Amino acid sequence: MSIATTDLDRTRTLLTDTGFEFAQEALPELIEQGVREELSLPGFLELVLRRERDSREERRVRTSLKLSGLPRGRTIEDFDFTFQRGGDRRGIEMLSTCEYARMRENVLLLGPPGVGKTHLAAGLGVKAVQNGFSVTYLTADELISRMRRDSQNERRRMSRRKYMRAAVLIIDELGFQTMDRRDAHLLFQVISYRYEKTSTIITSNKSIREWPDMLAGDEVLATALLDRLLHHCHVMNIDGRSYRLRHMNQAIETNQE
Ligand SMILES: Nc1ncnc2c1ncn2[C@@H]1O[C@H](COP(=O)(O)OP(=O)(O)O)[C@@H](O)[C@H]1O
Ligand SMILES: [Mg+2]
Repeated sequence: MSIATTDLDRTRTLLTDTGFEFAQEALPELIEQGVREELSLPGFLELVLRRERDSREERRVRTSLKLSGLPRGRTIEDFDFTFQRGGDRRGIEMLSTCEYARMRENVLLLGPPGVGKTHLAAGLGVKAVQNGFSVTYLTADELISRMRRDSQNERRRMSRRKYMRAAVLIIDELGFQTMDRRDAHLLFQVISYRYEKTSTIITSNKSIREWPDMLAGDEVLATALLDRLLHHCHVMNIDGRSYRLRHMNQAIETNQE
């Protein structure tokens, strides 16, 4: 099969005009492959369309990951479950299917520092992006300062705010800083606005019992917030060793032997 350059040019222009950018770019390579593999006409068409679709999907994932604010390089695949026996592997694998996001359920990852809460939450965020959900990652501090700013600007509608409408919102490190009543109320607004509409993943070093204290000592607000958060929620207690201090643990163990 030999194709004159001008024919190829016309085809490429058509591909560009109809929005098939990736196929346009890869056309010479695709034709070569088609010839080499002696593809049928439907087979060649499928090859071209598949390339376009896959490249678009790759671009979508890349862009969404950037926009999500997720920390880089934290994936479920990289998580060492043999180190963290306290990490519920089955549970995390189930969450990796993103069924919780389809069902608009929440996820709560609790445990002491260094056990991998942020890593797992971010890894679930990556899975959610790959599965087509909009994801926003914020530390609790960032979320609260954004909310403070937005609450002064009444005209910024709730539904326009990313942390309100994201299909999956990750609030990392809740409980590191004490909240005053206003902050606690802002957090309540997020949880109640998102309730049964979207999914929220929260990581915290505070056990649920400590939440009323964390929420400025407001028992009534804490009960109302937990009521909504926990109604449809996967709670995971990661009760293990700190990955950050693993070398120290090893050193201590070696010294003791
Ligand atoms: N089981 C694990 N396998 C691989 N890396 C881990 C594991 N647990 C923690 N880490 C890494 O250790 C560091 C601390 O984990 P992090 O998720 O920030 O803990 P936490 O949020 O619970 O304090 C991160 O760099 C994380 O990627
Ligand atoms: Mg963390």
